[in-house]
Amino acid sequence: MAIKDKVILITGASSGIGKAIAETLDAYAPRLVLVARRGDALRALADSLQSESVVIACDLLETTTLENLVAQTIERFGRLDVLINNAGIGGKVGLLPELPDSQIHQMISLNLTVPILLSKYAVAQFTQQGEGGTVLNINSIAGKWAFPYWSVYDASKAGLKAFAEALSEEQRSNNTRIISIYPGACATDIWDSVDLAQAPDASGMLAPQQVADAVLYALNQPQDLLISDITLMPTKALL
Ligand SMILES: NC(=O)c1ccc[n+]([C@@H]2O[C@H](COP(=O)([O-])OP(=O)(O)OC[C@H]3O[C@@H](n4cnc5c(N)ncnc54)[C@H](OP(=O)(O)O)[C@@H]3O)[C@@H](O)[C@H]2O)c1
Repeated sequence: MAIKDKVILITGASSGIGKAIAETLDAYAPRLVLVARRGDALRALADSLQSESVVIACDLLETTTLENLVAQTIERFGRLDVLINNAGIGGKVGLLPELPDSQIHQMISLNLTVPILLSKYAVAQFTQQGEGGTVLNINSIAGKWAFPYWSVYDASKAGLKAFAEALSEEQRSNNTRIISIYPGACATDIWDSVDLAQAPDASGMLAPQQVADAVLYALNQPQDLLISDITLMPTKALL
């Protein structure tokens, strides 16, 4: 798929992996829709990019937001070619009885329900356009391996894996690709919110740029080639 002029919506573009994806794709002159809550960070990113971009500062957990995101994209650019479901949260780590109910609801909503709903609206739009499209999910190694004390995060990401695999089979005949990227630990702000007894050593983690390079590789293939999944791990670390 030639990335030039493609309309690419990225959730969670204000920091970490999402920001690195926007910066990496920028070299190929797409049209970008940058989504997250922190409007200032998104506007600073948009100003630093060469590509035409639009900032949508919103909370993905607010119920009316999701359908509007695709609608606003169509209003601005007339089409949608790629949805990148990247926004996600970590949070408190621990035995299940220790995890606040509010965090469980929020994690399943943001990491699983939001990508499902956005995929639904995106795929409907791809069908209407008649050329197919691409949904790319930033999953996690936790979607493939279940880590104790991360049970809800594991469940959100394993659910996203199953969803992506089923949707991929449903959408093949429409020329729509569903791609999953499974990174191990990556040095981003997400670790600031992860409540661990001992802070992990960021020097052994992946860099956001390495994940963004994998995203570019998968997207940059011709539309008739589906790279269904890529797993990225730091060579020396377990996670
Ligand atoms: N870092 C890792 O070790 C690692 C490993 C594997 C997979 N991942 C996955 O990678 C993805 C990106 O995470 P990251 O590591 O880059 O962390 P990050 O820097 O904390 O980025 C998370 C992004 O999600 C956005 N976000 C969070 N809650 C939101 C909400 N309610 N509404 C809208 N946007 C929201 C944040 O923006 P605002 O705060 O501005 O809203 C931010 O842009 C996540 O899905 C994560 O599970 C991360």
